[in-house]
This record gives sequence, structure tokens and C-alpha cells, in this order.
Amino acid sequence: MLLDVKGLKVNYKTIYGRLEAVRSLDFSLDKGESVAIVGESGCGKSTLGHSLVRLLPPNASTGGSVVLDGRDLLKMKEREVKMIRGSEVFMIFQDPLNSLNPVKRVSVQLMEGLALKQRRAGKSFDEKATYKEVVDGLSSVRMPDPEVIMERYPHQLSGGQIQRVVIAMALLMKPKLLIADEPTSALDVTIQAQVIKLINELKKEYGMAVLFITHDMAVAYTVANRFLVMYAGELSETGPVEKVVGKPLHPYTVALVNSIPTKSRAEGDLVAIPGSPPNMLAPPTGCRFHPRCPKVMDICRKENPGYTTTDDRTLRCHLYG
Ligand SMILES: Nc1ncnc2c1ncn2[C@@H]1O[C@H](COP(=O)(O)OP(=O)(O)O)[C@@H](O)[C@H]1O
Ligand code: SF4
Ligand SMILES: [Mg+2]
Repeated sequence: MLLDVKGLKVNYKTIYGRLEAVRSLDFSLDKGESVAIVGESGCGKSTLGHSLVRLLPPNASTGGSVVLDGRDLLKMKEREVKMIRGSEVFMIFQDPLNSLNPVKRVSVQLMEGLALKQRRAGKSFDEKATYKEVVDGLSSVRMPDPEVIMERYPHQLSGGQIQRVVIAMALLMKPKLLIADEPTSALDVTIQAQVIKLINELKKEYGMAVLFITHDMAVAYTVANRFLVMYAGELSETGPVEKVVGKPLHPYTVALVNSIPTKSRAEGDLVAIPGSPPNMLAPPTGCRFHPRCPKVMDICRKENPGYTTTDDRTLRCHLYG
């Protein structure tokens, strides 16, 4: 097992009080596996991603454990986390520009990462060889004219080019785990498809584990072997893609799956999920989905369901277990 997350919680201190953005989350990830974290906007996906690389804002506090290759990231000193971040676990942020330094040329940024990696491995820095490695890295993400791109600053690149540079950076670092937070949502549809194809190819080629964060079930379906569905900071259901999409069990997953556009369904028939996600500062009692759930029972309003395992998946719902 590469990543083992147990009882993860993340709270934000806000002027309105404490906001529980992630609550008692358990999940694991094997080497080379790809898991999509799905759920509506505001359900805590980015918070989860940032907590795994320990890049949460100062008003956040965490609990539980995040064990990567046998070491608990939440208990490590910042100095130790820095050694792992970028090299063993790499995060592509929701806004790709945030991943790049605006005042450094692409060449400098990409070469710095590799130089650091070489230094840590006790190797001496070979500028010429590293330059070539970086150009090859840009070519492998199908970047046209990589040598020209190398001399540019981030603001001189298009959205698609920036995302390619960031993905190239991830590949050059060859992390064990790549976390991609909505890596395509800032891009137009054709470039989106190219970036997804790229991540899929590279996943196969390098055997990286991928945590793909998205609010788009259709995108998730094309990249992941397993889904982890989140609602209001909690896990609703997790299991193999074919099971979760083919026969969703949790009422929230059922609603999400019904909202996936399909070729056979006319666009107008898209089923929107009634209601809206809760105010996270005052979430509903019991099951957080109960105000929107078509299957709600009395117990759902009072008790938050625990984890149940059934039919190859883990879920939290009073209808099961
Ligand atoms: N820095 C922050 N301070 C306070 N609340 C935050 C902060 N960042 C996110 N939140 C809140 O945490 C919840 C989860 O947000 P986020 O992780 O960004 O969700 P998602 O990525 O699924 O859209 C939301 O209610 C959001 O408003
Ligand atoms: S616990 Fe109850 S309210 Fe929550 S999803 Fe299950 S049936 Fe619906
Ligand atoms: Mg987000």
C-alpha cells in the first residue's frame, strides 16, 4: 500500500467559527492505482489534496494520519516534508499558474527541481545533461517547440502550455503519487481531452499512482480505476469505477451518476441534483446529505452513519449495514 489515510480531519478557523472541511476520512491507495475524488464544489476535495502534501493555509488544523510509504506525513517536521513534496508526492494545483514561479523562466524552474533531486541522490549537477532531460520532458508532454518554451516566463504561456509545463515538471520528478486537482477545468475542451490522455499515458508508462480531483464525473470516468465520492467533507462511497457507476449504492452517488451526460441521453434529460450542498459552517445533523436525500429515514436526521463494506465498496449510509 502506498498511501493509507485514517480518520483524516481538517478544520478551518474562520471569523464565523470552526468549519469542518474534511471529517473522519478513511481511504487507501496502492502503487500505480488511480483514484478519482469526486463531489460537488465545496465538498472538501482541494482541502483533502492540500492536506496530503501539507500545504494547507495557516488557519487550518489537521487530525488523523496520512501514511505515505510507511511514514506519517502529518507527524513529520516541515524540513522532512519538504524532502518528500515534489519528489515523492507531487501536486498539480487547481489554478496551474500557482504551481509556477512568475519571475523565473520555464528552463530555470524545471532544472531547479531536477538539480535538487540529483543533489539529494548524491549526484553532481550536470547542466548540459539536465537541460536535455528537461527539453525531452517537455517533448514527452507533446509541447511544440520546447526550446522556445524553455526561455519563456509563465505569463508568456497559454493555459494549455502552463498545464503541460506543470505536468512535465511532475514527470521529471517521477513522484510515487501525483495529485491532480481539477487539472483541466481551466482549459478549453480540446486541450482538456489532450491533458487527460497525457496523464493516462504517463500513468501507464511510469506506474505512478494518481489521485485525480474533479467535480466532473465524466472526466473522472476516463482517468480512474476507483472512485471516492465525497459529500460535505465526508466519504459517501468508494469502490471500483465499474461498480460505482454501474450500480451506485449511496443515494448521493446515484444522483451524481444520473447527472453524467451520456450519448444515449438527450441533453435536456440531464438529471440535476435537487437542492444545494450545505453551509459547511452549520452542516445538517445526522447524515449530512439528509435534506437532499430521496431515501431519507428518521434515523438519518439524528445519526451520522458509520462505514459499511458491501459489494466491493465502502460507504456511509443507513440503508446499508
Ligand atoms: N482557507 C480557507 N478558510 C476557510 N474555509 C475554507 C478555506 N478553504 C476552503 N474553505 C472551505 O472549506 C470547504 C471545502 O472547500 P474546498 O476544499 O475548496 O472544496 P472543493 O475543492 O471540493 O471545492 C468549503 O466550505 C470552503 O468554503
Ligand atoms: S443515511 Fe439516510 S439520508 Fe443519508 S444518504 Fe443514506 S438514506 Fe439518505
Ligand atoms: Mg477545489
